[in-house]
Amino acid sequence: MLDNVTLHQLQCFEAVVSEGSFQAAAEKLRRAQPTVSTSVKNLENQLQLTLLDRSGYRVTLTDAGRSFYERTRVFLHEAKRLRDHAAQLAMGEESELRVVIGDVSPLPETLALLRRFFDGCPGTKLHLHFEAVSGPWERLFDGEADLIFHYIEKSDPRLEFVDLFTFKIIPVVAPNFLRFPISKSITPEQMRDFAMAFGKPRAQLLRYKRAGDVPEVSVMVSTLMADGTTDKTALRSEDWHTDDSYFATPAKATLLHSIEKPSRGGNTWFCNMRAAYAALPEKTKQRIDGMRAVHAYDTARASNRPSARTAQEIAETPDVEHPLVRTHPDNGQKALYLNFNRLDRIVGLERAESDALLDELAAHARQPRFHTAHEWTVGDIVIWDNRATMHRVRRFDDLNTVRDVRRTTTRSDGPTVAQEAA
Ligand SMILES: [Fe+2]
Repeated sequence: MLDNVTLHQLQCFEAVVSEGSFQAAAEKLRRAQPTVSTSVKNLENQLQLTLLDRSGYRVTLTDAGRSFYERTRVFLHEAKRLRDHAAQLAMGEESELRVVIGDVSPLPETLALLRRFFDGCPGTKLHLHFEAVSGPWERLFDGEADLIFHYIEKSDPRLEFVDLFTFKIIPVVAPNFLRFPISKSITPEQMRDFAMAFGKPRAQLLRYKRAGDVPEVSVMVSTLMADGTTDKTALRSEDWHTDDSYFATPAKATLLHSIEKPSRGGNTWFCNMRAAYAALPEKTKQRIDGMRAVHAYDTARASNRPSARTAQEIAETPDVEHPLVRTHPDNGQKALYLNFNRLDRIVGLERAESDALLDELAAHARQPRFHTAHEWTVGDIVIWDNRATMHRVRRFDDLNTVRDVRRTTTRSDGPTVAQEAA
């Protein structure tokens, strides 16, 4: 019955009803009145329905006409939307935009930006979501978002970005979360207990560095000793490393607490190994994914020798293997897993080839674009994730000033790979 009904007929019918007469409808549609009258008549004939009562001074709807009119309006509205959509597509405009606002974006400013954009593109439909922490990136990388307002890794080659805002992150904890105020007076026991929030604290391997009867806390004072010997720890730590990688189950978190700081230098630098991995050439990624490397307490590749071990400590630190690329258990993202103090060789490669690849990866990770620093204030506790970072302390005048930090590491959930039988 509707096969031969035209859009024009429906528009004429709608106009006659909404304008109240054939004459007004004709003016609205810029058509001659007989054209409008004929169109509506043809519509009624094709539907075999009388839509309009023409007996009075003004045309009115019949009962059938009233019902048909309501649906005609909906139909014409949808037809207009369809036409607008086609026009947008023809002009290359986004017909819809999926936007995610992250939890750190200032909401009034972000919404004002969005409002300005949509005022200029009223035909674009907005799908708006709010996400926290890594949620915005996940939606973007999963193809569920076109645009996110969030902080990003600028070195990530998958992203195009525009700087919009700066914001300050202020770490806070709930009242009474800490059983003590963070201050210079924190005790080894308090340090160990606090570390338990981030995993199971591990006892310091080197007994002479243990903080009294709290083996999980290390006393790391980087000064020359009164007898003229040198604490080699300071020298060893100067290069980029991740903590405890000479254990099959390496460190998850490290907590470092500043007790005394040198007058200059001594900042701790961090290397973002997730960004470093993401920026690798695809060919290199394919080559190293699945590779394992041997981490040794001491290796000729390191620029300095580590602290000496007792016989017992040597027995506790056989060489172990770790993947070159680790997948983070919490967010599923890949990161390079390097340690310039401990990495000895890549499993299955000749020494020369292994050295060349490790040198290539080291040069890549040494690029400043992956680095950031923490400048210490006495009393600070800095906590980092060793599964996705390396760190190093920068040089300072250890002949004349003291850098005293206390450290606790927590264990990862398990070995990174099944280890060969010792
Ligand atoms: Fe370290």
